[in-house]
Amino acid sequence: MDGFETVIYEKHQSVAHVILNRPQAFNAYSVQMRDDLYEVLSAIRIDDEVRVIVFSGAGEKAFCAGADLKEFLTAPSAVKARRIRAVRDLWKLFLSLPQPLIAALHGYVLGSGIEISLFCDIRIASPDVVFGLPEVGLGILPAAGATQTLPRVLGLAGSLDMLLTGRRLTGQEALAMGLVNQLVPREKLMEKAEEMAKKIAAYNPAVVQNAKQAVRTGLDLPLEQGLELESRLALPAK
Ligand code: COA
Repeated sequence: MDGFETVIYEKHQSVAHVILNRPQAFNAYSVQMRDDLYEVLSAIRIDDEVRVIVFSGAGEKAFCAGADLKEFLTAPSAVKARRIRAVRDLWKLFLSLPQPLIAALHGYVLGSGIEISLFCDIRIASPDVVFGLPEVGLGILPAAGATQTLPRVLGLAGSLDMLLTGRRLTGQEALAMGLVNQLVPREKLMEKAEEMAKKIAAYNPAVVQNAKQAVRTGLDLPLEQGLELESRLALPAK
């Protein structure tokens, strides 16, 4: 699988790397990137060889500086956009990936950038990282789930602060608030992500995927149902 315009896809044995690749535009999320990611992730989802996926951004400045603002004025009508989303819902696809996702973040992680990272199960970042949600200041709502995914990680107060005031978080702040699991020097970031991915990939993949599902799905259930889900997933496979 190669030849994508905006994404690099690499497979290192059982670890897949998805690299956002528009460094000249700070890896801004464009329509083409949506289509490329949709194709890559659809293939990964059914690839039994892939046990863990690592997301990162090309270039030194950003993981992703949000939606491509240069495309804003050329966007299709809201009706058309909704129709496209219904048949090609990248965010639902992210949520449906059974494998663990690791985000290796650096530089600007804004708008859709932070939203992509929030679909990941583990976030590590270099100290130069800057998180932010500029949408409300631009007169729009985040369109890739941040109003729902951010509070599940940061809680109510931190999420509303970021969303309503446009507050940006430094790496240290993100670490203190639990938005990232670890800060790693920039030059070691990908090495660390690969090390984590390999560690997870060495475990029984069915158990790993069940653990992910139990936590992710369980978080949206009342505790009793969550415990039932855990018991069901803990049963040995027939
Ligand atoms: N969409 C399209 N292009 C973007 C972009 C975006 N979201 N973010 C950065 N770029 C492009 C710039 O247009 C510029 O390209 P150019 O050299 O061809 O003009 C290049 O990336 C570098 O950006 P620049 O603004 O010159 O760098 P900076 O270091 O001064 O500032 C940011 C970096 C990220 C603070 C600034 O680019 C920015 O605020 N971007 C928009 C963030 C945003 O609002 N995202 C939308 C969320 S919905």
